Amino acid sequence: MSKQITIALTKGRIEKDTLKLLEKADFDLSFMANKGRNLIFESPDKKFRFLLVKAADVTTYVRHGVADLGIVGKDVLMEHPSGYLEMLDLNVGLCKFSLASTEDYQPSDHKRKRIATKYPTVAREFFNQKGEDVEIISIQGSVEIAPVIGLADAIVDIVETGNTLVANGLKVYEDICRISTRLIVNKAALKNKAEVTRFIQKIESIVGNEEVPFQ
Ligand code: PRP
Repeated sequence: MSKQITIALTKGRIEKDTLKLLEKADFDLSFMANKGRNLIFESPDKKFRFLLVKAADVTTYVRHGVADLGIVGKDVLMEHPSGYLEMLDLNVGLCKFSLASTEDYQPSDHKRKRIATKYPTVAREFFNQKGEDVEIISIQGSVEIAPVIGLADAIVDIVETGNTLVANGLKVYEDICRISTRLIVNKAALKNKAEVTRFIQKIESIVGNEEVPFQ
């Protein structure tokens, strides 16, 4: 088995925080500095290979074993919960899942609600727990416009700064859970590759055990 380890990183929103964290754990990432449009980066000593992929694909790479490890938000893990082990809360990329809508939303009026979301599993589970039957409408993005233009009564989505909600005239009705960036691992890689265990230990030593709450 190859000694090189492959780590799938989420590109975009949490990328900067992730790279900062890896550098804090003593990984020299200067080989990724001028990345241009490259998506695969191999360290000069060939010990590591980093893949920059879409959040929802990180679990796929890890599940199929082409990446040994993955760094991805808990939002994605809640939506795609199997085929890997979740090892560490990295305490960065903090945000929350919330139920939000326009001012005139009536959460308790006993009408069957239409809920637009990029996270159908999370939304369904949330309303199941409340014993509330809703219609889930899956969309891919810009979810905030759904209640404004009448596609849905409310949304279940990620809130970080809250700016997107405010800009679209929405407010939070209920917080669902805290979200942060996590380290996940392929089960076979954890069992068979000592380098993977060493990588996890190195990251663990700098993140600590205290869960940072999202305000
Ligand atoms: C996420 C999320 C919200 C926004 C929240 O979308 O779905 O729309 O960020 O961030 P804020 O609270 O800081 O305003 P993203 O930027 O990933 O884009 P998308 O809607 O195209 O998925």
